[in-house]
Amino acid sequence: MEVIVRKDAEAAARLTARLIADAIRVKPDLVLGLATGRTMERVYEMLVEEHKYRGLDFTYVVTFNLDEYVGLAPSDPCSYSAYMHYHLFRHVNINPANAHVPRGNAADLEEECRRYEALIAAHGGIDLQLLGIGLTGHIGFNEPMSSLRSRTRLKALSPVTLQQNSEYFGGVDKVPRRAITVGVGNILESKRAIMLATGEEKADIVARALEGPVTAMVTASALQLHPRCVVILDEGAAANLTMRDYYDHIFHTEPEWAPYRSL
Ligand code: F6R
Repeated sequence: MEVIVRKDAEAAARLTARLIADAIRVKPDLVLGLATGRTMERVYEMLVEEHKYRGLDFTYVVTFNLDEYVGLAPSDPCSYSAYMHYHLFRHVNINPANAHVPRGNAADLEEECRRYEALIAAHGGIDLQLLGIGLTGHIGFNEPMSSLRSRTRLKALSPVTLQQNSEYFGGVDKVPRRAITVGVGNILESKRAIMLATGEEKADIVARALEGPVTAMVTASALQLHPRCVVILDEGAAANLTMRDYYDHIFHTEPEWAPYRSL
């Protein structure tokens, strides 16, 4: 795992968007794992700018979102399908048939989980997985006590997460209680992962995930087991890290990061 701290949320999003855009340029048929939430909105905005002004081509890109609320149709404005359409898909030249989000309103939800996993496998797995982190330490909707080997399944959302996402629904009582999420095991199988976290309210959970023990109580800590994971933070989210000097040293001395230092 490498940890990169940028001066603010804007710079952290810019580096994240640049790494994704570069990955697409290197491999035009990239299989990209996507996250939703407030943190990602600026990243998607920047990817849209890359497409519009610098020719980033999504023709052959295949995307798989991490999660979807149970009971919501893709047309529901609160669904993650609608979020992706609003923030990214409608603005770029992605083939709609290549943009996958679990179907939260499937008649047979267990079957939907199996179908989704099989589809990811049929595409050869995720090349690059984008991740945020929730206040409970979740990645995807892998709430505390998710097995570190978990697969795509239904998960009950924690009261903290229901509260965190209530603003989208106009009240905590309106947030669906369960979601389909790919598992921690699936996320660990991605060839590369980027986790982006910004803001002081994430400082405590980021420090626990990155520098604490690997535990099912903080599923983002499982990224310590990932073979190729970069964590991008702003100063606020990095505030409680103890090994900061070491992380900065790596970013400022490794040649592979040189093109990104000015971002
Ligand atoms: C949603 C997802 C979640 C979010 C996390 C952070 O698809 O994967 O893990 O990334 O809840 O959300 P924000 O960015 O709203 O703080």
